[in-house]
Amino acid sequence: KQNERESMMVVTNFAARWFTKNMFETDEGQSVGLGYFKQRGFDAEIIKKFQLGYSPDNKDAFTRQATIEGYKLNFLEKTGLTVVRDDYKADRFRGRVIFPIHSLSGKVIAFGGRILKSDAKAAKYLNSPESEIYHKSKILYGIYFARQEMTRQDRTYLVEGYTDVLSFHQAGITNVVASSGTALTPDQIRLIARFTPNITIIYDGDPAGIKASLRGIDLILEEGMNVKVLLLPEGEDPDSFAKKMSGDELRRYISENETDFIKFKTSILLADSNNDPIKRAQLIQDIVKSISVIPDQIIRSVYVKECSTLLQVEESVLYSEIGKIKKKQR
Ligand code: CTP
Ligand code: MN
Ligand code: MN
Ligand code: MN
Ligand code: MN
Repeated sequence: KQNERESMMVVTNFAARWFTKNMFETDEGQSVGLGYFKQRGFDAEIIKKFQLGYSPDNKDAFTRQATIEGYKLNFLEKTGLTVVRDDYKADRFRGRVIFPIHSLSGKVIAFGGRILKSDAKAAKYLNSPESEIYHKSKILYGIYFARQEMTRQDRTYLVEGYTDVLSFHQAGITNVVASSGTALTPDQIRLIARFTPNITIIYDGDPAGIKASLRGIDLILEEGMNVKVLLLPEGEDPDSFAKKMSGDELRRYISENETDFIKFKTSILLADSNNDPIKRAQLIQDIVKSISVIPDQIIRSVYVKECSTLLQVEESVLYSEIGKIKKKQR
């Protein structure tokens, strides 16, 4: 079992080198792949650090080369790099820029591949399938490159996607990881917890991003961790936003605009309650529910105090509501 995993990682690490070589040393790779990253404003240092690459627009160029170099089809298939059906063998990634996904210890375990034209009918990102070495619910994109600074800054920024992580690094902010589009999981939160209990969610400034932030908040609180949120201007994501300013400006913007989860929830939900007393009551219920999942009683009391001030509700009322929720859960 362990041998099998090692063999799979030998293949994925070979593939990462091959995609990179392909991007830097072929005409197609340079003009299409490297051209794409350059046009999006990523510089050579970031491209090298994250081992970005390019998969040529060809049925099986990778699989053929890997086979020539002695890699077994079995492992090419298990890692999802080669799609095998009867006699048919083809590369999974074709004509895409490649983002290798690294394990906590820096080994390449999977890939994300982005199409180049956004008008195409194909999915924007194609990812490696689940495998013996890649459990997408247990890993975060960028964790290997972020772990040291997560500890040092005692905080992690949680963003949505690959390019969000790259742009933060390019701006000099390296304590950043991405949940890569999928809903955040308890395993991913526990992975962050190994380095810091403090998370700031910075998701895309669109309705989906806000919804995902609200869901993320409760999951993080349930793990006993602290969560802040930074709501980006509408239409921006961490990548596009970071590219509009210097690293120092970005740092300052984050620290001035990140809010704790109660202020975030209040501002989001209050905006569409229009002083309607019933909607206001629902909002209070909603926030009380978030507070009730916090395992630590002292931290809970701090938030009750804040909620009481912010929403003009007696603390005793809030405690009695929390009591009701906890009773229901038992
Ligand atoms: N994602 C995915 N499959 C898709 C769309 C998205 O796996 N079809 C994941 C990717 O990890 C992506 C993240 O969800 O990075 C966030 O999605 P989105 O905001 O749509 O993409 P961006 O990261 O902003 O990508 P880009 O800037 O390249 O358009
Ligand atoms: Mn496993
Ligand atoms: Mn998005
Ligand atoms: Mn995005
Ligand atoms: Mn984007």
